[in-house]
Amino acid sequence: MKILVTGSEGQLGRDLIPRLKAAGHDVCGYDVGSLDITDAAKTSELVAAEKPFVIINCAAYTQVDKAETERDAAYAVNRDGAANLAQAAARCKARLIHISTDFVFDGLKSTPYAEADAVNPLSVYGASKLAGEEAVAGRLPEHIIVRTAWLYGGQGNNFVKTILRLASERESLNIVYDQIGTPTWTSDLSDAIVLTVKAVESGKTPYGVYHYTNEGVASWYDFAVAIVEEARRRGLKVKCNSLEPILTSGYPTPAKRPAYSVLDKEKFKKTFGVEIPYWRVSLKNMMTELYGGGIA
Ligand SMILES: NC(=O)c1ccc[n+]([C@@H]2O[C@H](COP(=O)([O-])OP(=O)(O)OC[C@H]3O[C@@H](n4cnc5c(N)ncnc54)[C@H](OP(=O)(O)O)[C@@H]3O)[C@@H](O)[C@H]2O)c1
Repeated sequence: MKILVTGSEGQLGRDLIPRLKAAGHDVCGYDVGSLDITDAAKTSELVAAEKPFVIINCAAYTQVDKAETERDAAYAVNRDGAANLAQAAARCKARLIHISTDFVFDGLKSTPYAEADAVNPLSVYGASKLAGEEAVAGRLPEHIIVRTAWLYGGQGNNFVKTILRLASERESLNIVYDQIGTPTWTSDLSDAIVLTVKAVESGKTPYGVYHYTNEGVASWYDFAVAIVEEARRRGLKVKCNSLEPILTSGYPTPAKRPAYSVLDKEKFKKTFGVEIPYWRVSLKNMMTELYGGGIA
């Protein structure tokens, strides 16, 4: 089946494409250099030429803090780019799998967010991603929106890479413990998207919004502790001997983030028949893939 992937050089795109190919699909990947999704005419022309069965939109403006001062740039990609893809898909009778975020929620709940829960983004990034969801849903009934969270992968910059670097350079690190979510390995999300594609191919999948992250719950502090433990186990350089839990108020950032953004994944699990790995196991697997198994 022909699949067009945007944002192919991003963290998720780079993990997803090989998995789609391994599943036997004919995949064409485009990044901003070859397909800038903010260019409506080019997007329409290219989608018409490729005639994909499914488009998977991994392209996004993802710089959460920078978005606070670059509102137009964030909306151009996350809302207008998504709209352009949905429009192009509608013209060619393609389906669209669009990736979104836990940042559409305000984090005031203390139990996992279901798909139907009220959205209320706190940041420009979150609002632009929500506008993208609305743009897709309003233009193309044949869409699947997958909201995910706290992504990390072997390729690209992310929290795991940052903590590994900082822990090798500094003796102590302060990490916030009052933001709760679920770290999610892009490899697991990619496997889940491959299943989603299969379901879409079957023609029986209910379109709409789904939540997917790894299983479990963590604070950024818990996540950092686990990363440093895994690094030590593998004999990686760790200078850091003190990880201090701090409040968000002690680490102010331009963008406000939800204090709690754990996502309820029951709908995804039931619809696509997938078992989701626990985040700690996935972190271990990712570290093993990148750095080897280390000491048991
Ligand atoms: N990372 C997370 O923690 C996280 C959490 C929740 C949801 N998500 C969502 O998951 C998806 C994938 O995220 P990711 O971590 O893989 O992001 P990423 O690494 O930033 O990848 C996004 C890709 O899109 C490209 N891009 C930017 N503007 C574009 C444009 N106008 N046209 C085409 N491509 C463009 C980027 O290119 P440049 O690098 O050259 O700009 C980059 O290659 C996004 O929808 C994101 O919102 C991410």
